[in-house]
Amino acid sequence: LDNGVARTPPMGWNTWNTFGCNINETLIRQTADAIVANGLRDLGYKYVVVDDCWFNPDRDAQGNLQAHPQRFPSGMKSLGDYLHARGLLFGIYQVPLDKTCAQVGGAFPGATGSLNHEYQDARQFAAWGVDYLKYDWCSGTGTINDQVARFGIMRDALASTGRPIVYSINPNSYHAKTGPQRNWSDVANLWRTTEDITNAWNTGQTNGYPMGIQNIVDVTVPLAGYAAPGGFNDPDMLEVGNGGMNDTEMRSHFALWTMLAAPLMMGNDVRSASSATLAILRNANLVAINQDTLGRQAVQVSFDGTRRVLAKPLANGDVAVALFNQGSSTTTVSTTAAAVGKSGSSFTLRDAWTDATSSSTGTISASVPAHGTVVYRVSGGGTTTPPPVPTTFRLRSES
Ligand code: DGJ
Repeated sequence: LDNGVARTPPMGWNTWNTFGCNINETLIRQTADAIVANGLRDLGYKYVVVDDCWFNPDRDAQGNLQAHPQRFPSGMKSLGDYLHARGLLFGIYQVPLDKTCAQVGGAFPGATGSLNHEYQDARQFAAWGVDYLKYDWCSGTGTINDQVARFGIMRDALASTGRPIVYSINPNSYHAKTGPQRNWSDVANLWRTTEDITNAWNTGQTNGYPMGIQNIVDVTVPLAGYAAPGGFNDPDMLEVGNGGMNDTEMRSHFALWTMLAAPLMMGNDVRSASSATLAILRNANLVAINQDTLGRQAVQVSFDGTRRVLAKPLANGDVAVALFNQGSSTTTVSTTAAAVGKSGSSFTLRDAWTDATSSSTGTISASVPAHGTVVYRVSGGGTTTPPPVPTTFRLRSES
C-alpha cells in the first residue's frame, strides 16, 4: 500500500502472544521502558501494539470508542503520549465486523467492532496518536469479496485522517489456508498469511490450525512475489523467548522471519527477557537483512524436503542466504553463488550468527543442526542477477 509507511517491515512488540486479553496500561508502559532500556528501540523495535481487549465494552453516547476504564484508566491518548515521548510508536487493535475475536469467543463483553463506524474510529485513532492499526477479520463467514470491501473501507478511512498509519490486516484467522492466497498489497501494508502462530516448531499441520514455525514457513515462502516496500507478508508475531522450542529452533524462527521480510513483532514478555532471548532479538546482522531497503522477501532456491535454501537480494548487491535444515539430524546444506544470483568467482561470506567471515570461490555450504538455519551475507563478485520471484503462487480468486 503506497501510504508512505512500512517501506521496510515494521518492528516492535505486540501484547497478544504472551498476555492475550490480560493487558493494562502499566504492562504497556513497563514494556515500553524495557524496550528502550534493552536497546531494542534503537535497533528498530518501535511499534508497541495493544492487541484485543483494550476497549470499553460500550461505545459512548456519540458512538465513539473508549478505553477500558479499569485497564486503561488514563486513556489511549495518554498511552500514545507515553510511547511517543520515548521515541516509540503506538499500535492498536480493531476489527472490520461487529465483534473482536475476544467478543466473538465470549472472553470479552460487547460488540465494539468498526462495522459502520470506520471513519469515526479512524478519526479517533488519529486523535489518540495511533501509528499502526491491526485490523482482524474475526469471523469464519464472509467471502473474499466481502473482505476486500471491508478492509478497503478502513484503508480509505485511515487515509482520510491524513495521519501516516501502518495498516496491518488479518484476513486469515478462521479461514483455511489450503488454497492460493490473495496479494493484499493494494489494501494494506501487512497481511497475515496464516492462522495464529503456535509456540511450537511443527504442529504436523501444514495448512491448518495451529501453525508451528515450520508450517508457517511452508505457507509463506511461496508468497515471496507479493513483498515490496509498503507491503509485506505477515507470518505473525514472534514466539522468540516464549519457550516451546529449543535454542536452535528459536534462532531458526528469528532467522527465517528476517529472511521472509516479515514484520519483527516481539511476542514475549520483554520485561523479563533472558540474555539468550535478547541475543536473538538483538542480532544486528539479521535485523539489517530484514530491514534492507530493497524490501524483497527471500525466494526459494532449492528444497529437497529436508534442506531448504532461501536467498534474499539486498540493496547494495549482497545476497543473504539461509541454509535451513528441516530434518531431525545434522546435515550439510549447500548452494552456490550463481544459484543465488551472484556472478564472479570470489566472495566473502559473513555468518550472521557468529559474525565470522570466510572467503569462497562459489560454494555456499554449512553443517546445520536439526531445525537449524545458518545465514550468510554474501558479498563480492561481479554484477548480481537477483533470483527471480517464484511463479508458483497464484492469486486467490475474487468472484
Ligand atoms: C486473532 C489474531 O490472529 C491474533 O493475532 C489476535 O489478534 C487475536 N485474534 C485477538 O483476539
